[in-house]
Amino acid sequence: MGRITFIEHNGTEHVVEIEEGQSLMQVAVDNDIPGIDADCGGACACGTCHVIVDERWIQSTGGINADEQGMLGLTPEKTDTSRLSCQITVSESLDGLIVQLPEFQM
Ligand code: FES
Repeated sequence: MGRITFIEHNGTEHVVEIEEGQSLMQVAVDNDIPGIDADCGGACACGTCHVIVDERWIQSTGGINADEQGMLGLTPEKTDTSRLSCQITVSESLDGLIVQLPEFQM
């Protein structure tokens, strides 16, 4: 359906195939992307699926609800384009998405 690029803090890139309807966190876990532990299984309760979305893509990833905002507030290395990957649903419109992985989670 499309591809997403995860970039580690050291610059290592992982390009993975995406399947519509999955969460971005699930895509990362299924592809053994380092630094996405997803300890709570996608319940927006751990913050260990933090990604930094390339600013060109932030609008396409959708809105942030209060729970995600609160959890991101506890996350080291939060930026203006931070998201919890478990709260992003993959769709065709995200083909080409680029996200960075925070150093803290490595
Ligand atoms: Fe726990 Fe995303 S998996 S907040």
